[in-house]
Amino acid sequence: MRKIFILALTLILAFVSCSYSQEIKIGACIYRFNDAFMLRFRNAMQAESEKSGAKISIADGQDDQNTQDAQIDEFIANGVNVLIVNPVDRMSSQPIIDKAKQANIPVVFINREPAPEMLNSYEKAYYVGANAEESGTQAGQLIADYFKAHPEADKNHDGKIQFIMLRGQNGHQDMILRSKYSVEAIKAAGYEPVEIAGAIANWDKLEAMNIMNAFLMSIGPENIEAVIANNDEMALGAVEALKNNDYNKGDANAYIPVVGVDANASALEAMDKGEMLGTVLNDADNQGISAVRLALALAEGKDLNSIGYTITDNKYIWIPYQKVTRGEK
Ligand code: GAL
Ligand code: CA
Repeated sequence: MRKIFILALTLILAFVSCSYSQEIKIGACIYRFNDAFMLRFRNAMQAESEKSGAKISIADGQDDQNTQDAQIDEFIANGVNVLIVNPVDRMSSQPIIDKAKQANIPVVFINREPAPEMLNSYEKAYYVGANAEESGTQAGQLIADYFKAHPEADKNHDGKIQFIMLRGQNGHQDMILRSKYSVEAIKAAGYEPVEIAGAIANWDKLEAMNIMNAFLMSIGPENIEAVIANNDEMALGAVEALKNNDYNKGDANAYIPVVGVDANASALEAMDKGEMLGTVLNDADNQGISAVRLALALAEGKDLNSIGYTITDNKYIWIPYQKVTRGEK
């Protein structure tokens, strides 16, 4: 009896220690926790790690590259098997890649795309994201479609669309390309876009609200025909400012179409209430899941074709964007 007990105990211990030694440790860095879209991204990574039996630690870079660099050093010192990094400054990714290479651990960048030459400097460096051009095009199409359905939206009847652009953080690929391609899509639909005012609001709702308040005061809502925001939080800030001016509260004569990107729950709610025209789904779930699966496959030396997502150019996973509207309002 005693012998069997000891044997059973030994087996259990062996099993436990063996599964422990196989547990992959992921060190993940987010540029800043206080970001609605990155919260969705984080939750998706957390859930996928739990599902896969991996241990993920996620650090808040607090929008400071030095803070994030120290967090990366600590992850490496603590022996993580792989890094997932959402860099504060995507153009400062080279030192991060060099550190990962030095420690011989893979690094998967997310959401903020390092330059190709940076990624190419290390065979275990990858990027998971969504094609910013696509989201810009789709946001612009939402505005153009609205003008097709509502000729009266051209308030001054000049055949042009006088719009305000609210931009994300400077240098972010999503800020540059969404701004550019939303305007291109409006042109492609046969309208002449005229940016009557624009500003950087750093993806932030409050900043966008203050900026929009100032624009409403200086330009007048009757002279604004559309608001294009690089993300939902800024779109919602604009909506707040409009509502404070008795716009976008259900009266068709006091309405300015506002579009964003992300499809965060708060934006979908605003769309349901008719306060916001539309958004573009930035698929946090599939980006988060694929980033974790890629990280684990790299850490375990598994076949990358087994993770259920296509890897392009041996470096990239691209998750598609998708237009979201709530029908005619
Ligand atoms: C964008 C997203 C923004 C913000 C940013 C952070 O893709 O649309 O809302 O989260 O990433 O890098
Ligand atoms: Ca016009």
